Amino acid sequence: MNFELPFIAPSILAADFTRLGKDIGEVVEGGASWIHCDIMDGHFVPNISYGPNVVKAAKSAAPEAFFDVHLMIENPDNYVEAFVQAGADLISVHQETCPHLHRTIQNIKKYGIMTGVVVNPATPLQAIEPVLEDVDLVLIMSVNPGFGGQSFIESSYKKLENLAAIRDEKELGFLIQVDGGVNLKNAKKIARAGADILVAGSSVFSATNISARFEELSEKLD
Ligand code: DX5
Ligand code: ZN
Repeated sequence: MNFELPFIAPSILAADFTRLGKDIGEVVEGGASWIHCDIMDGHFVPNISYGPNVVKAAKSAAPEAFFDVHLMIENPDNYVEAFVQAGADLISVHQETCPHLHRTIQNIKKYGIMTGVVVNPATPLQAIEPVLEDVDLVLIMSVNPGFGGQSFIESSYKKLENLAAIRDEKELGFLIQVDGGVNLKNAKKIARAGADILVAGSSVFSATNISARFEELSEKLD
């Protein structure tokens, strides 16, 4: 995986599902090569989004892209295989849904894909310190998960800086991803705080010209 950091990862939750393939094509045309898929079960988060079949369809619209599947679901172990078969290149799980987090991460690794661990805004980084050397990515939620279009939680900046400092101190190599409320105004500051990957949903897909908006957001990171 050779991505130039930092970069924008569009979340297709905000895409127009009556033309999902076209929206994905447009964001890829704008330069996207990493697609973020938000899986919600209506239990861990108060919303239901979509399942492996939609990830598979999305992958067929952008077979060259890297598919990052963010599981906002209870019992994620039960669904890892289905999302691997759907084409996931990375699966991230919430610390809050994994009583046996170390084992769940090993369960994902055995499929030969990348692994991520996610923390909600109120979950301290200390909760994931024991697994930092096992994961390829740490996702800091900058909104309370469940919906697109929310505002960026300001305390996420400090959390990003703290995570980047821990990574340096421990000489680890995981990617730092942030997710929720990323827009044209805050993208540069978020990247400066330490984010390698900035997930953006509504700020990308709400635009009339999706390709141009993706490019505009990406230019904020230069
Ligand atoms: C929220 C999801 C985010 C969301 C981002 O639970 O994890 O990925 O789709 O959407 P925006 O960018 O609109 O906040
Ligand atoms: Zn997400």
